[in-house]
Amino acid sequence: MQIQFLDATQTPASAILVRPVNQDAIPAELEPVLVEAARQSRFAGKPGQVFEGFVERAGKVLRVALVGLGGASASDRTGAVEKAGAGIVAKYLTAGEAALTVDLTGSGLTTQETTALLLGARLRAWRFDTYRTKLTDDKKPSLTRIDVIGAPADVAADWAEEEAVAAGVEFTRELVTEPANVIYPESFVERVRARVADSGLAVRVLDESEMSALGMGSLLGVAQGSARPPRLLVLEWKGGEQNSKPVAFVGKGVTFDTGGISIKPAAGMEDMKWDMGGAGAVAGTMLTLALRKAKANVVGICGLVENMPDGNAQRPGDVVTSMSGQTIEVINTDAEGRLVLCDALTWVQREFAPTRIVDLATLTGAIIGSLAHEYAGLFSNDDTLAADLTAAGESTGDRLWRFPMGPAYDKMIDSPIADMKNVGSRFGGSITAAQFLKRFIENDTPWAHLDIAGTVWADKPGATWDKGATGFGVRLLDRFVRDTLEG
Ligand code: BES
Ligand code: MN
Ligand code: ZN
Repeated sequence: MQIQFLDATQTPASAILVRPVNQDAIPAELEPVLVEAARQSRFAGKPGQVFEGFVERAGKVLRVALVGLGGASASDRTGAVEKAGAGIVAKYLTAGEAALTVDLTGSGLTTQETTALLLGARLRAWRFDTYRTKLTDDKKPSLTRIDVIGAPADVAADWAEEEAVAAGVEFTRELVTEPANVIYPESFVERVRARVADSGLAVRVLDESEMSALGMGSLLGVAQGSARPPRLLVLEWKGGEQNSKPVAFVGKGVTFDTGGISIKPAAGMEDMKWDMGGAGAVAGTMLTLALRKAKANVVGICGLVENMPDGNAQRPGDVVTSMSGQTIEVINTDAEGRLVLCDALTWVQREFAPTRIVDLATLTGAIIGSLAHEYAGLFSNDDTLAADLTAAGESTGDRLWRFPMGPAYDKMIDSPIADMKNVGSRFGGSITAAQFLKRFIENDTPWAHLDIAGTVWADKPGATWDKGATGFGVRLLDRFVRDTLEG
């Protein structure tokens, strides 16, 4: 979606004119027939609500869409304005017109609200039609351009930042949506390499033999049942002060999770193509940071493996030795995400001594039982970090809800034969998973784990996405970097 700002001397050429309006405040200067028609159709200007009417101007019939911004002083004004932008695109994406004009004259939208509206529009326009060879013309997206008139004069610089965010979210959605025969550890790396080329990101990749030499027996144990070799992908952005330690983002990148020998039931197993959503979010975030030249040092790590059953796959009861030296009894080969993350966490600490670590993982089905698809689970050993992430979540819509941790939960993963086992009891599954990861955090480094199993994929359209991949995590982490590292 191309978005351009026109000044007063340029006349937009599109046949659809969009007017954002505050709740219960339809502008009086509009044609009375339009105002009355909107009123009769119960258009109130609620966030994202759209009313379409037709008026005659200068002898031409024009489509005019009113889109609701909600109340001017609503608490989540940004989110409401985003919904307005998304609402317009949802209505007109496949409506047959190539362009529409958004007229902000007199809307009172600030620069920040204007970019929020446009971000909502751009994100809602994303589609993945790569494998649809038979889409009929009337089902194909037609809308490719939005002309904006009456925007605040300084909008362009702010919009350039938001475009970087949109590009990151879109890249994450692409990685998450691609099927597992296309995106596997090696091809994930190549897709990222191609996308971040010339961005200024440093790319490093560890292969199987390097990981083996480092003693990553836990990650490699998961990978050993797959014909696809594992990778550890490292993306480094050095936009901050030269000698300051980075913040680390670590993503679970299980490109397909069959469960391994503890195999999953067939129904719904196709969803496990998006078990790399944490790694996808890390890759998208790093792209965003590079595109907008963030003034921060950040390292992104993707632990990439495929979890398959095979003659060489690990068995329940196997004991593996992690890079940290700690041993793990693998009770259930389907609790593989933590086995991948623990070695990635050890490696990033030894290599970078990060100041703070945030991991993202589609780790447990139990988190969906707790929070459905509204919040991701947040687990942390540090109240300030937890508060920073929660705030970033509230302001971007990638919302987080913190869970308790503690010694009683930690005890639930003690093993009779090794240092720990990879599952707890039937209860508190998301928390015991977090306790497992915590055992790999050294020197009390501030760390947070985000269980995003319920938020990376949507079965129905949401505020700024269609059904499918949401891109969850990119906006959250980008905001977190802006607010905690860039001042
Ligand atoms: N990738 C799954 C978690 C998951 C489930 C994500 C459903 C999205 C939707 C993870 O690897 C897994 O299988 N977890 C098990 C853990 C159990 C064996 C302790 C689970 O949640 O059932
Ligand atoms: Mn699993
Ligand atoms: Zn998994």
